[in-house]
Amino acid sequence: MEIRGATMLVAGATGDIGSALAERLAGLGAVTALAGRDPDRLAGVRERCGPGPSRTFDAWDLDGAEGTAAWAARELGGLDAVVVCVGVAAFGPVGEIGEAVAEHLMAVNALAPMAILRSASTHVSPGGLLAAVTGTVARLAPAGMADYAAAKAALATWLASARRELRRSRVGVLEICLPHVESGFAGRAVTGAAPALPPGITVAQAVDTIVEGIRTDASVMEPAGSRRGRS
Ligand SMILES: NC(=O)c1ccc[n+]([C@@H]2O[C@H](COP(=O)([O-])OP(=O)(O)OC[C@H]3O[C@@H](n4cnc5c(N)ncnc54)[C@H](OP(=O)(O)O)[C@@H]3O)[C@@H](O)[C@H]2O)c1
Repeated sequence: MEIRGATMLVAGATGDIGSALAERLAGLGAVTALAGRDPDRLAGVRERCGPGPSRTFDAWDLDGAEGTAAWAARELGGLDAVVVCVGVAAFGPVGEIGEAVAEHLMAVNALAPMAILRSASTHVSPGGLLAAVTGTVARLAPAGMADYAAAKAALATWLASARRELRRSRVGVLEICLPHVESGFAGRAVTGAAPALPPGITVAQAVDTIVEGIRTDASVMEPAGSRRGRS
């Protein structure tokens, strides 16, 4: 997809990766709508990206999350692409996580991204793109983060199925499967502390990966820059 001039929604634009991505896309000439939870951070990112629409949402409110794509299409006069960068982790033994945290992780990492993209599928034009960040945890299922890994795996499966379905509408679906990124993400876990992790990629490298995936119409972007073409 050509980024210059494209109308794009970044959901989770207040996060380390989402904000850096929003700024990069704006710098490359995209017309952006920005959605995030924290109003102050959202205003700051909006200012750095230049004028345009922004709106807060909370993943717990699935109807609100779903309405984000329609809002962006309305505000931008059409919608070419949506990238969802929302997520939260939790660490700890499966027997100690508890139902409230498990539900929280599924809402933020799976249900809300699906709600945004489900609605976006009815607004994005042919040749457009739906994208979301998952993580290598969805493939590796490491110990000590079962509910986070399961939520990301649910999102990855939803993306794969939606990709097959939307192919005939010429809408691409991109999974951005990132390894550990040196953002503040692990430190913002709902509960528990991250295990010792090998050094991650930088936020800038994560953004490079996402931008390459958008530009090349990839289906899955995985660590080490490997890419699978649209299928
Ligand atoms: N960092 C890593 O090691 C890593 C590795 C693989 C994949 N990922 C994925 O990459 C994405 C971005 O992560 P990041 O590193 O940029 O972390 P981050 O800075 O913590 O960003 C997380 C984003 O999710 C949003 N969010 C969290 N809970 C929310 C809720 N209840 N409602 C609405 N928004 C909510 C945050 O909004 P506010 O800031 O407005 O609260 C923020 O925009 C996530 O999907 C994460 O799972 C990260």
